[in-house]
Amino acid sequence: MMIIHTISQLKATIHQAKKDGKSIGLVPTMGFLHEGHLALAGKAREENELVVMSIFVNPTQFGPNEDFESYPRDLNRDVQLAESVGVDIIFAPSAEEMYPENGGIMIRAGRQSEILCGASRPGHFDGVLQVVTKLFHITEPTRAYFGQKDAQQVAIIQTLVRDYNFPLEIRSLPIVREADGLAKSSRNVYLSEHEREVAPVIYEAIVIAKEKFLLNGDADEAIKLASHHIKSKSSGKIDYIELLSYPDLKGVTEETDHFLLATAVYIGKTRLIDNIIFSLK
Ligand code: PAJ
Repeated sequence: MMIIHTISQLKATIHQAKKDGKSIGLVPTMGFLHEGHLALAGKAREENELVVMSIFVNPTQFGPNEDFESYPRDLNRDVQLAESVGVDIIFAPSAEEMYPENGGIMIRAGRQSEILCGASRPGHFDGVLQVVTKLFHITEPTRAYFGQKDAQQVAIIQTLVRDYNFPLEIRSLPIVREADGLAKSSRNVYLSEHEREVAPVIYEAIVIAKEKFLLNGDADEAIKLASHHIKSKSSGKIDYIELLSYPDLKGVTEETDHFLLATAVYIGKTRLIDNIIFSLK
């Protein structure tokens, strides 16, 4: 496995792979890898001849009072994990390498970014699209792999790819969970022992809400039930719980047949997100 820190070296390697007719799978991450990331890499390994994983804690997607500085980082550990699932290249640039000069040109995510996480994290998805656009141009992937853990992120990236004609396929894979249902996340390391014990209420709540909604079609009641579950079983502070159509992220109507039930909850100081994507049976 190669570890590459510069854009020029990665481009040269990609250029050669393209010349050899190889398909390229890209797995963008911010590192501190867990089984969710490794599932994406494993799928990329199955489907492509060259697998590139980027590890870059992207400063432009963090707000001023967010956890950019404290976000967990451990490149040596990540290298070993990535190698174990057959990644060929780790691309781990510095912030200076990715953003040598601010030319003032911005990519602005559209309507889909004004709700859910975008409402609580202004500018977050602009930063995600900025880094993902750069990674797409540098890596020229055949396929790029994202997790449904960040369902809004995948939906917005799919819109970027459609609207700006990126010649690649977005592959979106299911959420990988702990045995008790908690969605795996690099941020789970922030949780104290007690917080970790209560954190599964988040997934429990959205499962309860989904089941209620499938029974009687009443979205408000389903969301109230989820909110009650979280409040009665934890001191978690709910940022949002919403039911929307997916992937367009609009209000639910009679015609909606694909749903996103998404939530963000503060457990102590840690903001955790989770969701379920489902259809009417
Ligand atoms: P990060 O949070 O490191 O996640 C990298 C990828 O792993 C994302 O596509 C995310 O949805 C996926 N992922 C995280 N936890 C998962 C889980 N439990 N199950 C399945 N997939 C999971 O998302 C980002 O980084 C960044 O925003 C990035 C796209 C790299 C741009 O900076």
